[in-house]
Amino acid sequence: HGLTRMAIRQRARQGNPDATLLLDPELQGDPFEHYENLRAHWPFAPGAFSRVSVHHDVCTEVLRSEDFGVADRDASMPTPVRLALRLAGPPPNPGPIDPPSMLAVDPPDHTRYRRLVTRAFTARRVAALRGRTEEIAADLLDDLARDTGPTDLVPRYASLLPVTVISEMLGIPTSMREQFLVWGDGAAASLDLGLPRQRWETVTSCVAALHGWMTDHLRRLRAEPGDDLLSGLAAMVDEDGSQLTERELVATALLVLGAGFETTVNLIGNGTRLLLEHPEQRDRLAAEPDLWPNAVDEVLRVEPPVTRTARRARRDTEVAGVAVPEGSLVVTVLAGANRDPRVFSDPARFDVARANARDHVAFSSGIHFCLGAALARMEGEVALRALFERFPGLASAGAPTRRPTRILRGYESLPVTLDRIG
Ligand code: HEM
Repeated sequence: HGLTRMAIRQRARQGNPDATLLLDPELQGDPFEHYENLRAHWPFAPGAFSRVSVHHDVCTEVLRSEDFGVADRDASMPTPVRLALRLAGPPPNPGPIDPPSMLAVDPPDHTRYRRLVTRAFTARRVAALRGRTEEIAADLLDDLARDTGPTDLVPRYASLLPVTVISEMLGIPTSMREQFLVWGDGAAASLDLGLPRQRWETVTSCVAALHGWMTDHLRRLRAEPGDDLLSGLAAMVDEDGSQLTERELVATALLVLGAGFETTVNLIGNGTRLLLEHPEQRDRLAAEPDLWPNAVDEVLRVEPPVTRTARRARRDTEVAGVAVPEGSLVVTVLAGANRDPRVFSDPARFDVARANARDHVAFSSGIHFCLGAALARMEGEVALRALFERFPGLASAGAPTRRPTRILRGYESLPVTLDRIG
């Protein structure tokens, strides 16, 4: 939007509530100061065509309210903005947040899609996967131990663990995992609005490649079913779509696959970085390993992999005493809500023993609450614990770089040495 870097910083300092500011690359490195300015200026900040909240109670209320939905989220934007978005995109194949992804539809469709896959992700089913996840982590760490000199934890560990786990869960050959990582990285940017045209081209081709692969795979499974989750889903497709259409099936399978690895990589990366920066917290975990599950929630609170989501008012309503007309967009800044001082004392402090760490909204709230939350927590715990127990001397070996995504927050590269030098 043509503003200089200084003008952008100035607007952020003034608590400017324009939602586009939330996406500005200038503020991506450290968005938290901007959230605090919004908090100081507004109970529920109005924007040009949307409202923004960094408050825990407001975000939770909106996410749980039946007055809000996810359908047609960009319909609330003024025509020129919508047109500009259309020109920049959208991909011909529906992306992870386009219908019929369950993330982009309201009940009753949402209920129907979600019910198809919930059983695979219950706490009990996830607990049964822990042993195998520990084996995968140990194998990856064996490979890592063979690296001489500094190594990069993101491509060598943080990204490989979740994609291996979700591929095995879905019955997809793990030989596909490197390819999924490339396509998934490209497709992840589809969550961000206002991307430069060049990046949209990557998004479009990666989403198309994932679609093509998944459509073929599911057709193979319909012909020759196995006893995996996807074969079960594929068997439900029928010609007239009375149970499930092929389009719905592909969207559901791709969402579960993509959500299964594009976010957890950031949990593992963000957690590694936080622990490297806070040696006293690391020592505490070494002395009290029972704190690991809580530490994972504290990582999710302080550095949530999904920084925000949004809802559209389905009717005229009111939130926090403010009238919200039908059709308006409300941006719920999960990363801001997670540092609300009314819920978390000294909120910027990373404290693995924080008593109410689990009250974060990193997995959202309400009917779209993350389907994979139990799986993500288990993977995060196994991955981080195995890493720090195996390499007690793990140390940073240079500046990390962030992923270029704006809604997803994590690292692309985390250089480390496995043993502290000196
Ligand atoms: C939904 C975060 C891992 C599957 C969500 C939402 C968030 C989220 C914030 C809701 C978005 C909204 O309300 O608009 C995360 C984080 C993860 C993670 C931070 C890792 C640390 C996973 C994993 C899976 C998964 C491992 C594996 C299957 C899903 C699905 C939905 C979802 C299917 C859509 C649920 C619905 O619309 O009803 N996730 N997720 N997620 N997540 Fe996760």
